[in-house]
Amino acid sequence: MTNEEMYQNLKEKLADIVPDVELRYKAELAVQINALKKEKNAVILGHNYMDPVLFHAVTDIKGDSLELSRKAAETDKSIILFCGVKFMAETAKILNPTKTVLIPSLAGCSLAASITASDVRGLKQRYPGVPVVTYINTYADVKAETDICCTSGNAVAVVESLHSDTIIFLPDEYLASNVAKETGKHIIFPSLNSVQPTNESLLDVQMVGWRGRCEVHEKYTVQDIANVREQYPDVLIMAHPECSPEVVAASDFSGSTSAMIKYIQHTSAPRYLLLTECSMGDNVAAENPEKNMLRLCSVRCPHMNQISMENTLEALQKNQYVIEIPEDIRLRAYQAVERMLHIG
Ligand code: 13P
Ligand code: SF4
Repeated sequence: MTNEEMYQNLKEKLADIVPDVELRYKAELAVQINALKKEKNAVILGHNYMDPVLFHAVTDIKGDSLELSRKAAETDKSIILFCGVKFMAETAKILNPTKTVLIPSLAGCSLAASITASDVRGLKQRYPGVPVVTYINTYADVKAETDICCTSGNAVAVVESLHSDTIIFLPDEYLASNVAKETGKHIIFPSLNSVQPTNESLLDVQMVGWRGRCEVHEKYTVQDIANVREQYPDVLIMAHPECSPEVVAASDFSGSTSAMIKYIQHTSAPRYLLLTECSMGDNVAAENPEKNMLRLCSVRCPHMNQISMENTLEALQKNQYVIEIPEDIRLRAYQAVERMLHIG
């Protein structure tokens, strides 16, 4: 495809979202990325939060964490280039140990950084025999300590599949609280530094959480929702389950990034607001030009935003950054991810 053809294709989809001058420049980068991708037998996976041009011009597989994990397990390409954050690329490596998994920048995540493998071992010692569910937004060594993973798209199904009176659910305080509410469980957040109360019985504890938070979703407040509703009384508001239970309760719908996209596609509200990384609003608007998308773009994920067209091209040119996981950790983490993929 020539630069001009790529530019015309992108213009059709993104003319109302990306100014022409940027579209022309990024179209050239997209042509180079796609040529190199073919030459190297690579596949590009892109999370729903990616920049609109990257998302529409170069990604072969798009989706939320769960969909990308599933697709990563199925690819026959020799290189997987993951446009997302590091824990997502690690999940692809856990599922594809013989393939080269690349990420354009070693982008972190406040949730993945909130807990260590040693923290999980501490909780297991304190609550022996209690199954541990870990959010996919964790690093491989943390996953390796746990029984099963979940994403925001299947967290309730994973918890219910365990048929256990007590569950350890890590590390997102708000996702855990939202899941506890939905499954009717009482949740506590013990501090590993404090002495375990002598009267604490597992019978009183149904869910054990951790105080990790997404630095993006924790910022939305019930007051933000009230302000938006005052200005636009007909708005339909959707919150990612990493938002607080109060924000989720004040919204009209809550679900994973892809669940929110599907909800928009199947409803016809006069306007929508997504309480999640604002690039996704652009991507939804591009796919659904008839929908009126409001955006709160002062709240951004600094990690997802590290991934650009430039460093995606550089990743293919220089074969960087290679995701490596020690085999003993990978094997244990694989069990937790594989169990999740069997559930839904
Ligand atoms: P999803 O699994 O819903 O795509 O969420 C990933 C994430 O990092 C949300 O901030
Ligand atoms: Fe992590 Fe939040 Fe960024 Fe998602 S939006 S990658 S959970 S910091």
